[in-house]
Amino acid sequence: MNAARIDEVIGEFVNLKKSGSSLKGLSPWSDEKTPSFMVSPAKGIFKDFSTGKGGNVVTFLMEHEHFNYPEALRWLAQRYNIEVEEEKPTPEMEEARSERESLYVINEFASDWLVKQMWEAEEGKTIALSYFKERGFNESIIKKFQLGYNPDDFQAFTNVASDKGYKDQYLLSTGLVKQKNDRKYDGYKGRVMFPIQNLSGRIIGFGGRTLKADKNIPKYINSPENPIYDKSSSLYGLYFAKSAIAKEDNCYLVEGYTDVISFHQKQIENTVASSGTALTKEQVKLVSRYTQNITLVYDGDKAGLKASLRGIDMILEQGMHVKVIMLPDGHDPDSFSKEHDRIEIKEYLVDSARDFIAFKAHLLMEEAKGDPIKTNDVIHAMVESIALIPDTILRSIYINECSKLMHVSEKALISELNKSLRKNHKQNNRFRGRDELPEPPVIENDFQEEQKFVEDTLEYQERDLLRLMINYPHSRFALELPTDETPEPEQHNVLEFILDEIEGDEIVFETEKYRLLFQSIAERYNDHGFDQNYFIQNTDEKLQSSFIDLMTFPYNLDDWERKEIFVDSEEKKLKRAVMEAIYAYKSKRVERMIKETQQMLKDAMLIGGDMEVYLKKQLKLEEVKREINRVLGRTVLH
Ligand code: UTP
Ligand code: MN
Repeated sequence: MNAARIDEVIGEFVNLKKSGSSLKGLSPWSDEKTPSFMVSPAKGIFKDFSTGKGGNVVTFLMEHEHFNYPEALRWLAQRYNIEVEEEKPTPEMEEARSERESLYVINEFASDWLVKQMWEAEEGKTIALSYFKERGFNESIIKKFQLGYNPDDFQAFTNVASDKGYKDQYLLSTGLVKQKNDRKYDGYKGRVMFPIQNLSGRIIGFGGRTLKADKNIPKYINSPENPIYDKSSSLYGLYFAKSAIAKEDNCYLVEGYTDVISFHQKQIENTVASSGTALTKEQVKLVSRYTQNITLVYDGDKAGLKASLRGIDMILEQGMHVKVIMLPDGHDPDSFSKEHDRIEIKEYLVDSARDFIAFKAHLLMEEAKGDPIKTNDVIHAMVESIALIPDTILRSIYINECSKLMHVSEKALISELNKSLRKNHKQNNRFRGRDELPEPPVIENDFQEEQKFVEDTLEYQERDLLRLMINYPHSRFALELPTDETPEPEQHNVLEFILDEIEGDEIVFETEKYRLLFQSIAERYNDHGFDQNYFIQNTDEKLQSSFIDLMTFPYNLDDWERKEIFVDSEEKKLKRAVMEAIYAYKSKRVERMIKETQQMLKDAMLIGGDMEVYLKKQLKLEEVKREINRVLGRTVLH
């Protein structure tokens, strides 16, 4: 971290220009025309104002290159010639590594050979290449996806691979070679080949399509599972799609190899396929590294559609947003994209995408045809889907929508939803060996209640206090103006002053992320003194990202530099900002205490409690409030 220079590292990916004490460039995550991506070499942070992303040199690599944490560190180590001592592998690990490596090598060799067979051999050219071209694939897409051909000969590949000296054991486990009794033969005889790439572009397996119309042989043969090919956690096309998925913030999920390739040829590159199997959790997690939005593209013949509905619930459970597109009758993505140009396809995809929940409700309601018992089942099915969504606000939006779609009161749906939530909650926790568990948070049936709650939070004030602490920790100001007796009034530093004010009144921040941050800052300050780097480089992601957010909030581009001048030159402004932040916060807290006391007073009047206590308390609080406002007024007038 200390060796890495953020401007150098980011400069390898983004064209940066000097702008005051920082550097400026075009956001790598959006298509902006005016630069809003800032790098501060002095602070070691970046901030992308167009997407809100911000962080340090490691988080940049993780965001931009989709590295995980160790991968980012290794990249930096290599860039700055720092040797990383990895754990010494055991003999078993070495062996497993060498097996995996052998499988990669064989697949790569095979792929090169299969491509050559198609482009150079007579049989390949006339049978395979012409097949792809007739299907409408152009040469560059055929090359990009490394499509190939296994000659229609029992041992064509088997022979060259054995001549190369690859071990039988490995050849067999790739599925490229098969064995019956003592005879080895090609697993993909006479098939056109679709290699499957992993996230770094290495080939982990193949799908081979027959060119025969014979219904008795399988249309596709896929690689068997082996140490490098795990079907349930790979997605066809993801290697070529990942950056487009991140950029478009959406992933199209289609059914087959040819659908992916056809979409990519039309430059709709945020497209992947789960290759004929139901989508798995691992595959959804893979997509969620790049986007939270998934759009399922279905063939226009509805077959198998209902069966897949259940699988989709699993996507909701991962917290992803799901949309559904039905192609026109009789079309799959491959055939559809042959008949339309890129603009038409894009238009269709955008216009006909429907929210999954609404889509499912329609589909099931159509089927129920007003039958009350079936309708009841539909309502239950819908509520169960909604209950899987982790986000409370999203859940209440869907409840509202379903209520309109199905003509059921929101209240009834919420009560069903809460039952479902409790049931799921119990099921999820059954295995954790706990008996008593707190109830999960349920949705209140009162939107206005929620609205009021939002306005009543102290989030903004807490954020403001932290923002001052973080950005001007060591800046100093005097509370009093100089007089003849005290020509040099006592100086305070911002961080310590706020810490004292808040801790002195035993105030605990209400907003969770700010409470954690405040506590960490207080602890760090007491033990070591405050330094920004400790937080900027913190490996606690939450802590680090709320810290950097506050370092760059709420200034827009023009303010980015101006605020640094502000610190040095305008002590008075700083003092006012600090005092306002503290006393506006305290004032709000006291106001809230007054309201609570009033309520208790009312209750006491009704049920006959000790009214005097509350009256006294209220008077005292009013006095405190006046005092706070006096301080506030004085500060502002100064
Ligand atoms: P499709 O039958 O829709 O094939 O199966 P396709 O990809 O559209 O191929 P064309 O257009 O007919 O040439 C969709 C996917 O299901 C898997 C494959 O991944 C295929 O791409 N599948 C299908 C198999 O694994 N085995 C099969 O026998 C058939
Ligand atoms: Mn097809």
